[in-house]
Formats: sequence, C-alpha cells, structure tokens
Amino acid sequence: MEPDQYDSYILEFAAVVLAAGKGTRMNSELPKVLHRVCGRELLNLVIDASISAGIHQISVVIPENHPSFIETIKGRANVSIQKTPKGTGHALISAREQVESYRNVIVLNGDVPLISDTTLKKMMRNHLNNNAIITVLACKVPDAEGLGRIIRNESGEFVSIVEEVDTDNYNRQVREINAGIYCFDNNWLWKAIKHVKPSKSGEIYITDLVALAQGEGKKIKSFMTLDQNEIKGINSKIDLSVVENIMNKIICEELMLKGVTIIDPNTTYLDHEVTIGKDSIIHPNCHIRGSTNIGNRTTIGPNTIITDSQIGNDCNIFNSVIEETIIGNEVDIGPFSHTRSGTTLDNKVHIGNHAEIKNSNLGYGTKMGHFSYIGDAEVGCNVNIGAGAITCNYDGVSKNRTTIKDGAFIGSDTMLIAPVKIGTKSSTGAGSIISKDVPDNSKAIGAPARIIRETHD
Ligand code: UD1
Ligand code: CA
Repeated sequence: MEPDQYDSYILEFAAVVLAAGKGTRMNSELPKVLHRVCGRELLNLVIDASISAGIHQISVVIPENHPSFIETIKGRANVSIQKTPKGTGHALISAREQVESYRNVIVLNGDVPLISDTTLKKMMRNHLNNNAIITVLACKVPDAEGLGRIIRNESGEFVSIVEEVDTDNYNRQVREINAGIYCFDNNWLWKAIKHVKPSKSGEIYITDLVALAQGEGKKIKSFMTLDQNEIKGINSKIDLSVVENIMNKIICEELMLKGVTIIDPNTTYLDHEVTIGKDSIIHPNCHIRGSTNIGNRTTIGPNTIITDSQIGNDCNIFNSVIEETIIGNEVDIGPFSHTRSGTTLDNKVHIGNHAEIKNSNLGYGTKMGHFSYIGDAEVGCNVNIGAGAITCNYDGVSKNRTTIKDGAFIGSDTMLIAPVKIGTKSSTGAGSIISKDVPDNSKAIGAPARIIRETHD
C-alpha cells in the first residue's frame, strides 16, 4: 500500500523502545519485557504496535549479554546495547546512532505493552502539527501511584514531569500522568540530553528533558489518550496479571464481535494469535493457546485446553487436552481425552473418553471410544478401536510404529506389540497380544495370538 499524506508524516519518525531496565520489581530471573501477556512477550507487543503504526526504523535498547532478547525480536527491529542500566534517559542515548538521521524520534517504554498503533499515529501527527520539541503521551488516571506526574503552571502549560519519589504532598495528588511514550525533535534532543543531570540515585531520567526544554523556552506538548488501559505499565507481577486480564478481554470481545459465542469471557483464556470461526461456542474454563485455529460451528469445552492446534468445522471437543494436533471436520473428542504432538485426526473421527493419542494419524470415520492408547501409529479409515486397546510402541530402547489398515476391528484390550501391522478388514480378539503382522481379511486371537485366515465377500 502506498503511504498517503497522513502516513508520510510517519516516515519522518524512527522509534526507540526502551527495554534494558533491570525490572527489579518483577522479582524474576526472566527480564521484565520478555514476560508474556496472552502468549506474546511485552517487548514484541510494543514492536508490533510500532510496526503497525508504519514506523520503519525501530531500535530496541537491550542489556548486554542477553541472547534471549535477540531471539525474541527475531530481526523485526534493530538493537542497541545499554551496558549498565542507568536510567531511561541513559538508555535512549545508546540508540542515538541508529535514529539520529531522522527528523523525529518516538520513544516507547518496553513495559507498556497495550499501546495502540492508532494512538501512536495520532500522537506523531500531533507532534508535527504543533511543531513541538517534545510531545508526551498523557492520561488522567484514578490512581497515579508509582507514575511520573505531569506538572502544569497556573496558565495550564506543561512544565515538567515529576517522578513519584520526587513528589511533594501537592503534586502527589496530580492525576495526570506520563505514559512513558514521547516524541522528540532529534536536532534538539541529542544536544539537550547531554545536559540532563543525574537523579539522586545516579540515573539519567528521560523525563527531565521536559523541564530542560521548558527552561529553554521550547515548545512542549502533551497528547492525551482517554484509554487508561492502553497505557498500563508493568512493573510487578500484579501489573502483569492486570494487563493479562485486559488483553484477554479485548481478544474475547473481538472474537464475539466476529460471531463466536463465548459463554463466560472471565474464564476463557485466549492467546493473541488464536482464531475462531463464526458460530463456534466456547464454554467456560477453556484455555486456547499458541497458534491455534478453530473453524466454524465447533463447540469447545467446558474445561478444555488446546495448544498450537488446527481444528476444523462442526467439531465437539469436550473436557479434553489437545496439543499440536490437526483435526478435520465433524470430529468429536472427550470427555477426558488427550491428543499429543504429531497427531492428525481426519474427518468424522470419534474419540471418546480416556483416550490418549500421540504422533499418530487416524483416518476418516475411525472410532476410539474408551480408554485406549495409540502412539506412533498409522490408522486407516473406518477402523474400530475397542476399549482398552493399546499400541505397545516402546520396547525400552526405541519407539516402533503400528499400522492398522482400513476397516480393521481391534478387539477390546488388544496389545499391539510394535512394530506390527494389522491388514485391511482384519480383526483381533478381545485380550489378544499381537506380536506378528496380521494379513488382510484375517482374525488374530489369543495371547500370543494365532492367525486364522478368513475370507470376506
Ligand atoms: C517511567 C517514567 C514515568 C512514567 C512510567 C510509565 C522515567 C524516569 N519515568 O517510570 O514517568 O510514568 O515510566 O510507565 O522514565 N529502561 C532501560 N534502561 C534503564 C532503565 C529503564 O532500558 O536504565 C527501560 C525499562 O526496561 C522499561 C522502561 O525503560 O521498559 C521504563 O523503565 P521503568 O524503570 O519501568 O520506569 P518507571 O519507573 O515505570
Ligand atoms: Ca515501568
């Protein structure tokens, strides 16, 4: 798409995402911005918003010796290193070389993950239209605890940002806060930032640039967002859960507007990438994770966990756990069944209760009603797997495959000692132990089984 006039403003901006802080308040081994909400890292959410806003040059400030940052960013942005975390202003200096050729820079805190591309765009446009040196994203919040307050003079002009630790009784009451997102005129910024004095704790605060600009009589503006959710920052695991809830609600509501019935969004947990088709119904207590896609008119839950799976139309998955599984149309599963990595279930497969399937393909119309284990198996169409039948796929050293051909009937409690093949339309007797291949059209009975040839018409 060609950028329109509106978008071409954005081409004057590079972005810096501040992500190198220690995140001490998270009390975690994992760096703060690599924590996830609804399955996606905070840092990636901020990069997503910057990319969707149309910014091409994004520089993420990361700490030294942290390969996990590079893995998370996956080449979607450039990185600059802040060797020691000496404050948000100090972090910004690390990115200078990557962004100074642009006329303006938009700076985002890596721990404010719900920021929308729309707000970023509006803010950048506002910054340019106002010819401002600094534009700060502001919001009025009922509880400003821990946040930088926006301080105005008697005529309402924006004069400084005061951090919580530096507030006095008067400005602690201020409810207009700094969201941690700023636009700067680059020409001014790189000269000015050298003059910012360290705080009492020895940190260089990005927020002190405001008072500096005010002292120089420069134009400082705030841009107000009314959406308190999008500027929620994450400093602790309490904040993390608050943001997870907000985002989960947003994902549920988007799907409901697209025609998905979600009985109780409060107990439906959906990841960012999940897609669900029209007229599907999600009952309470479901967790749908990773890159899962669900078709139309499919019913999920209650009490179902689905991870990284593809599920077709008109299925019914009840009280079960589905992992890395590909499921066709009109398949029903559950209650209490578990499909694991590498499993494919063709159309009209029926999986009843207490079944486990791993790394196996089940063909069209195959039925597996009651407490069975199928692992490392190729199962044809219209096969019937009786109660308690098991593929003994592991001999203590290696995993072996089982093949069950179309139309076979596996009697209750059959033990299939892999590697083994059951021929087309063959059957095994209840309780049989099958350690040799069974040809087509045969019956295998006994323990260990004897083979009796049969003819079918
Ligand atoms: C900051 C703002 C505060 C604002 C709030 C909004 C400052 C001084 N204060 O406070 O006014 O209301 O965000 O959420 O900026 N970082 C680095 N290197 C560092 C320090 C921090 O890259 O040396 C990064 C962090 O990884 C984080 C971001 O900068 O993503 C913000 O740092 P944080 O310490 O969380 O700032 P706040 O105390 O929340
Ligand atoms: Ca923060």
